[in-house]
Amino acid sequence: MKLYHAPASPFARKVTVLLHEAGATDRVTLVPAAGNPLDPGTMPVDRNPLGKIPALERPDGPTLYDSRVITRYLDDLLQAGLYPSAPRLWDTLVIEATGDGIAEAAVLMRYEMHVRPEPTRSPAWAESQWAKIARALAALEARWMGHLSGPLDMGQVAVGAALGYLDFRHGDRNWRRAHPGLATWYATFATRPAMLATAPTA
Ligand code: BEZ
Repeated sequence: MKLYHAPASPFARKVTVLLHEAGATDRVTLVPAAGNPLDPGTMPVDRNPLGKIPALERPDGPTLYDSRVITRYLDDLLQAGLYPSAPRLWDTLVIEATGDGIAEAAVLMRYEMHVRPEPTRSPAWAESQWAKIARALAALEARWMGHLSGPLDMGQVAVGAALGYLDFRHGDRNWRRAHPGLATWYATFATRPAMLATAPTA
């Protein structure tokens, strides 16, 4: 299988963390892809019409996207056990959606302030993305710390990838200051070999 991938992408990182956790990195070849909303560059637009990564090319079926579809597929294929049975599954999925929402808002902020031509940038729009991130971090801190400290699942992986991206691109925001429980959890989670092996790079 081929995974279209960029080392800075928190969504691609969810997939590579799963592969490391499952001991299955040899099942997938990483294909570098780079682009942005203004220029698709080498994004696999022929594989994913949305022009986004990650996308997973399989020998026996259509290319899969987005990250949540890919991780469900690989979890089933590899029997990784990162999606528990219901009813716990519903908690895992909403935590995964929360982590993905943080990552999405953080990537949009990055595009707004670094990719969009300078005269058209909107700091107010970027701030509205940060407000969304702050609400999501507060929700994780208030409601989901018990789950995050439980058995490894894709909710934890998505939150870990999102927090790693906040450190990578938005370190000046100091998300830890208002979220000490999450900061303590992440200090341990970030030392997992799968997280260390997939740390974002430009
Ligand atoms: C980034 O450079 O921040 C980035 C690259 C690819 C996907 C998402 C973010």
